[in-house]
Amino acid sequence: MSEFAPSALGTKEHWDAVYSRELKSFQDFGDEGEIWFGEGSMARVVRWLKAQSIPPTTSILDIGTGNGILLVELAKCGYSNLTGIDYCMNAVELARSICEKEGVSQNVHLEVTDFLVAFHPSERFDICLDKGTFDAVSLDPSGAEEKRRLYIESLCHVLKPQGLFIITSCNWTRDELLNQFGDEFEITDELPTPTFNFGGQSGKSVTALVFKKKSDS
Ligand SMILES: C[S@@+](CC[C@H](N)C(=O)[O-])C[C@H]1O[C@@H](n2cnc3c(N)ncnc32)[C@H](O)[C@@H]1O
Repeated sequence: MSEFAPSALGTKEHWDAVYSRELKSFQDFGDEGEIWFGEGSMARVVRWLKAQSIPPTTSILDIGTGNGILLVELAKCGYSNLTGIDYCMNAVELARSICEKEGVSQNVHLEVTDFLVAFHPSERFDICLDKGTFDAVSLDPSGAEEKRRLYIESLCHVLKPQGLFIITSCNWTRDELLNQFGDEFEITDELPTPTFNFGGQSGKSVTALVFKKKSDS
């Protein structure tokens, strides 16, 4: 399995600086900020949930929600039991402002918390979403392997038995994600993502998988 070179992208300082800039840009110009991996990756997750006829009251957690735009899109599709967490205060403030502007605040609960150590929800979730957060955790210069272990432990703790975990990653391939999550989760679907061809080989820049939590995890 590949290990990644530690990077600033794995530190809270990095995300604090990013969201402090993005919050200011929203306050000054109304710019909602970056959609990680592009609109397509967000639409893919929303489309998949709608195609499965997931009921609108299903409890959904977005881990490391950033500007919260994925939750805004889900709220606009009728989902009403949405939670977003992020360890950056400015990200949560930005997400809150965007939810207010888009008129979906009543359907989205937002919280500043570190998913790896401090998140203790009163009820478990039916579905957990991750777009880019496990990637960031995997780049943490202060012990990425241990951070990944804590991530999976926390995920198992907050997700109901048989709950779904939908992850979009640009760092890990399908097989690597299976390796990471395979003890506690079984894969149930792979969302179609763009492929590229180079030197006779084809690959993907983004992988999006649906896992189901094993009942004994
Ligand atoms: C690549 S960004 C993706 C943001 C968002 N999911 C999106 O798709 O736009 C990674 C996010 O994870 C958050 N994050 C990283 N580690 C975290 C942790 N331990 N607890 C909570 N949030 C975390 C960062 O603050 C950042 O908002």
